[in-house]
Amino acid sequence: MEIVHVSAECYPVAKAGGLGDVVGALPRYQQEAGHVSKVVMPMYRTRFLYENQWTVVHKGGAALGSAWFEYTIIQEATNRLGFDLYLVDVHGLLDRERVYGYEDDDERFIAFQIAVIDWLSSWQHRPDIVHVHDHHAGLIPFMMQHCLAYRNLASVPVVLTIHNAQYQGAMHWDKSVLIPSWDSWKRGLLEWDGRINPLACAIRCAWRVTTVSHSYLQEMRASSNGLEPLFEYEKGKCSGILNGIDSQVWDPASDPALDRHYRTRDVASGKQAAKRALCEVFHLDPEKPLFVFIGRLVGEKAADLLPDVIADSFAHIGRRMNFLVLGSGEREVESKLNALLGMSQGDYGLYLGYHENLAHRMYAGADFLLMPSRVEPCGLNQLYAMRYGTVPVVRLTGGLKDTVVDIGDEKGYGITHRHASVGDITHGIFRSLGLYEHPAELHRVRQRMMKLDFSWHRSAQSYADLYKTLK
Ligand code: ADP
Ligand code: GLC
Repeated sequence: MEIVHVSAECYPVAKAGGLGDVVGALPRYQQEAGHVSKVVMPMYRTRFLYENQWTVVHKGGAALGSAWFEYTIIQEATNRLGFDLYLVDVHGLLDRERVYGYEDDDERFIAFQIAVIDWLSSWQHRPDIVHVHDHHAGLIPFMMQHCLAYRNLASVPVVLTIHNAQYQGAMHWDKSVLIPSWDSWKRGLLEWDGRINPLACAIRCAWRVTTVSHSYLQEMRASSNGLEPLFEYEKGKCSGILNGIDSQVWDPASDPALDRHYRTRDVASGKQAAKRALCEVFHLDPEKPLFVFIGRLVGEKAADLLPDVIADSFAHIGRRMNFLVLGSGEREVESKLNALLGMSQGDYGLYLGYHENLAHRMYAGADFLLMPSRVEPCGLNQLYAMRYGTVPVVRLTGGLKDTVVDIGDEKGYGITHRHASVGDITHGIFRSLGLYEHPAELHRVRQRMMKLDFSWHRSAQSYADLYKTLK
């Protein structure tokens, strides 16, 4: 099968979070399984762009409301990622440094989507599947079916994967003029709650919809930022397929970010070396257990609770552990975490910003990973942590619920809690210390986790099975 993924992110080209990881890995596993898998994404001004070679494969132009834009499709020339990678260059709109966060994001991503289908409609053949990811590509199923110029794509099956339904890309109706001339009887497909809602539109128009874990799908029917009735109505075409991890990129036995590699059999000494190196950088005591948090400092991740969790743990449990936080996001959370540095007694470290290499070293050097998320569609951090022998301390929600089993169960390997509250998280930390004090048990738990298989093979097969039903 020939599959065309359309996404705003793809690691290592451009990544803001887990979406990038997924779109950077799944296509390679699909190629390995014998399919032809391609990725189309915007051309941002990233290092990857400058460090690689490109071939121009198509040039075109299209209207964006009353304006006209030219676009160029370039292809990475050396098959560096193991699949065909195409970037859409729309001068002045897409060629920016960041992926998101500009005032004209609506225009940027609509232009991107128009360029993608304008190009696809010029192909001599049709792909077997167009696979769109999140709301940035959410208007594509509608455009393929109801924009007059692109109806030659209407018979191509489209699959939508929802990585995060909190973000829906909703915009004012004025923007409807940006969408290439469409069948006005279909207005209802674009609209949700009085606005154009690309995610809702994609849920309606895609042939099948997947979410990145089973539990998240169930949760969205009860709570999904206003889309609950839609998920209930469309439940027949929705299913959950758990993300995998790229076990080549995330492997403590070969990770280039680590000075010393380790496997299951030498996990204790390997992690100790990684922890010592990390503690030296952040002036922490390597004899104490190390709890880390890695991620976007936003409400979904319950990052706003971290400052109180850290302060309360020190106050009530004692200064028996270290905390190290890596992330960026809401200003208020950043400044509270910063303020905590003043009370550190060599047991708290912070890096505000995005640092891929440091993230790898933290998964390896930490004893425990905190993930108290309020919402977690799948979550990759806990999967990376487990592969590196780091015990996840997670709230039972979405993908965390589907991937972490509490040590209270026979064969369990994580520490779970019910609520995103300071009390529950602190209790999780207290339980973690209990595990840390029993090195033999900790060792067994680490080995158990590292033997788990969360690689993409199984999930890639589930996507292939789903595509087959659409042929
Ligand atoms: P989300 O996509 O909701 O942010 P995921 O758990 O699916 O959450 O994926 C997050 C990805 O982003 C992981 O690869 C994680 O290591 C990475 N990440 C998040 N924040 C940072 C950061 N500040 N520096 C480096 N990597 C980060
Ligand atoms: C989203 C979700 C995260 C998921 C990732 C990749 O950003 O927040 O839980 O792991 O997408 O699917």
